[in-house]
Amino acid sequence: PSIVVLISGSGTNLQAIIDACQSGDIDGNIVAVVSNKADAYGLTRADNANIPSACLSHKNFETRELYDQALIKVIDEYQPDLVVLAGFMRILTAEFVQHYTGKMINIHPSLLPKYQGLNTHQRAIDAKDTEHGVSVHFVTEELDGGPVILQAKVSIDAQDDADSLAQKVHKQEYIIYPKVINWFCQGRLLMANGAALLDGKSL
Ligand code: GRF
Repeated sequence: PSIVVLISGSGTNLQAIIDACQSGDIDGNIVAVVSNKADAYGLTRADNANIPSACLSHKNFETRELYDQALIKVIDEYQPDLVVLAGFMRILTAEFVQHYTGKMINIHPSLLPKYQGLNTHQRAIDAKDTEHGVSVHFVTEELDGGPVILQAKVSIDAQDDADSLAQKVHKQEYIIYPKVINWFCQGRLLMANGAALLDGKSL
């Protein structure tokens, strides 16, 4: 199966996915990396791994709809089976999401449905939560609201600040994202009637 990864930044999750494809932990291939930011370090990671990459800056588009339509064209040149959002920091239009229904997943640094949106680590600390984590989910029109596929938890300790917590969460991201991607590539994972199913069972 072929995978297109969308990024906006450093791409440490992208790197974990590249490594997992190379080691065989993911039974699939990254056919392209697409960024909305020209200076995203993830583009260098793609080059280093000889993966084709493209940058489509949102700054050149009048509206979100026009940008997303252009983005669909770029992505669909690669005919991916799966679109992976890995730190792609844009809100997607309904048209874009519908175009990839059941074929697009995201990783969000919280235990969804808690803390949708930004600054999740600080919000968990401020709420005096004792645990936090990360979720991989299918993308639906509701921001960070699609069916959850897999989560990993970390503890919040007294000395934790947003940075230390983010580091703990990142370590879990690099484990669970490749795992979910591999499930999808093996044909074991799908979205049906708004639910995520693994081996035919609801998650
Ligand atoms: C991760 O924390 C991920 O959960 C969030 O964006 C961040 C991307 O980091 N969606 P990186 O670019 O993979 O290093």
